[in-house]
Amino acid sequence: MPKSDWPELAGAAQQRWNQNAAFWDDYMGEQSNTFHNLLVRPAMERLLAVQPGDSVLDIGCGNGNFSRHLAGLGTRVTAIDGSAEMIDRARKRTEGRAKGGPENGNAGSLDYRVIDVTDSERLVELGRNTFDAAVSNMAIMDMAVIGPMFEAVHGLLKPGGVFVCSLTHPCFQAPYAVRYAEQEDRDGEMIKRFGIKIERYLTPRPFEGLGIVRQPVPQYYFHRPLSVLLTTCFEAGFVLDGIEERAFDDSVKADRELSWANFRETPPMMAVRLRRLD
Ligand SMILES: C[S@@+](CC[C@H](N)C(=O)[O-])C[C@H]1O[C@@H](n2cnc3c(N)ncnc32)[C@H](O)[C@@H]1O
Repeated sequence: MPKSDWPELAGAAQQRWNQNAAFWDDYMGEQSNTFHNLLVRPAMERLLAVQPGDSVLDIGCGNGNFSRHLAGLGTRVTAIDGSAEMIDRARKRTEGRAKGGPENGNAGSLDYRVIDVTDSERLVELGRNTFDAAVSNMAIMDMAVIGPMFEAVHGLLKPGGVFVCSLTHPCFQAPYAVRYAEQEDRDGEMIKRFGIKIERYLTPRPFEGLGIVRQPVPQYYFHRPLSVLLTTCFEAGFVLDGIEERAFDDSVKADRELSWANFRETPPMMAVRLRRLD
């Protein structure tokens, strides 16, 4: 496999998340955004199908809004992030909240910890065969090193346990991907086309980008094509047994020309369910 982990960038990548933490937390808040609420979260929930009482590890939890949602479903969540600033924000949002969810009468729980998963020994310390499920919500492409992380998570799961990950779709949000909108006046009919031009897909590479326009500093992304991503999962011992690719449907109105809402046939995200069999 080509080089697809960049330990030399791990510290810098995490530092950027510390710099962006307050902005991201203010922007995402408790409710998150349309992208998460309409595309990511439903796919994650279908693939995860958690049960009250399940123990769940949330990796790269950010401000913890998905972790709190999972706890609200009655699960026991250990939520980790490499950014101390993010975990600080997550804890502040949780203070004073009743733990767990009244939705189903089962009290879940939440335990936030600062753990950079590029240091897989910190992960292993969470204990073998501990979790029913692990989740990583829109964070894999932000991680400088993933090989040892997948291996460690495989051991943390109980046999049969699942690791559900969502990420920006590596085929359509690759480095140098260009989103375009075209308009053609053809025989009296105005035809609009929305598409993506991809210049570089196959070679894994780090690049810098803006997750949210106007965030304080660009973040590092780590582009890995599907073959590299999935081979990494398979080599860690996982099998793939679920996948979703989602785009907005016509119930969502675009607020600008190049919004993903105009790209109905091009999924900006994907989610996979990996399973530990043995
Ligand atoms: C795009 S945010 C997603 C946050 C959250 N999961 C959500 O859905 O809102 C990515 C998160 O991954 C975290 N992250 C990036 N690299 C990490 C690493 N090596 N170890 C742990 N967390 C990491 C960042 O600090 C950031 O909070």
